[in-house]
Amino acid sequence: MEFWRQPDELRRSCERARQAGRRVGLVPTMGALHAGHLALIAEARRRADFVAVSVFVNPTQFGAGEDLARYPRTLDRDLAACREAGASGVFAPEAAAMYPPGEETRVRVGATAAPLCGAHRPAHFEGVATVVTKLFALAGPCVAVFGRKDYQQLQVIRRLAADLFLPVEVVGATTVREPDGLAMSSRNAYLSPEQRSAARAIPLALTEACRAFARGERRAAALLGPARARLAAVASSIDYVDLADPGSLAIWSDEAEIGGRALLAVAIRLGAARLIDNVVLGEDAPPIAGAAEGALT
Ligand code: PAF
Repeated sequence: MEFWRQPDELRRSCERARQAGRRVGLVPTMGALHAGHLALIAEARRRADFVAVSVFVNPTQFGAGEDLARYPRTLDRDLAACREAGASGVFAPEAAAMYPPGEETRVRVGATAAPLCGAHRPAHFEGVATVVTKLFALAGPCVAVFGRKDYQQLQVIRRLAADLFLPVEVVGATTVREPDGLAMSSRNAYLSPEQRSAARAIPLALTEACRAFARGERRAAALLGPARARLAAVASSIDYVDLADPGSLAIWSDEAEIGGRALLAVAIRLGAARLIDNVVLGEDAPPIAGAAEGALT
């Protein structure tokens, strides 16, 4: 497995791979890799022959007072995990290599980035779009794999690739969950044992909404009410529990009757952790497997 610190090293290796007739895959991450990331690498390996994983805690996507300083950094373990997962190389630049002195350009995002997380983390998606554009520029024509847990991020990146005519196929990979249904996240490491068990309310709320939708419930308030109540019972605070159009991310009002599929997206704070999750009603399986019938507890 190759290891690159400098942007040009990543660019040259991807170019060489393409010249040798190999399809390049890119898996952007912020490290602290878990099984969810390994599934992204596996997906990239199914679609490409040369898979580059980036490990970079991108400062521009963190707001003031957010967890940039304490975000888990586990590069040695991440390298071992990438090697084990069959990555061709890891790109782990210093911040100054990605944002050298004098740099000033940012990628402005639009309506897709405005609701949900965008409403609570004002410059977040501009930072994501900027770093992802830099990574796409370095990797060149490729297939890039992102997790559907960050559903809004995935949509913002799809929009970005289309709007800027970037030669990148953007692929969304299914969320990987713990046995109790909690979505895997590097930020789960912030949870105390009590908060970790309380976090099960998230997949329970999503599963309950999946069941109601499958029974034919289409009133937004009836889908949102139980989810909001379940999450309010455990969360330190709730950023949002909303229904949105899965493509545009336009929010359905509580008075709406849902037509077609709907994204149910949640973001709550449990102590020091901000946790997000989602399900596309009418498309995704419920997060808690085997929960088609019976009480959800
Ligand atoms: O999802 C993440 O880990 C990050 O937002 C990404 C896409 C690697 C950009 O920094």
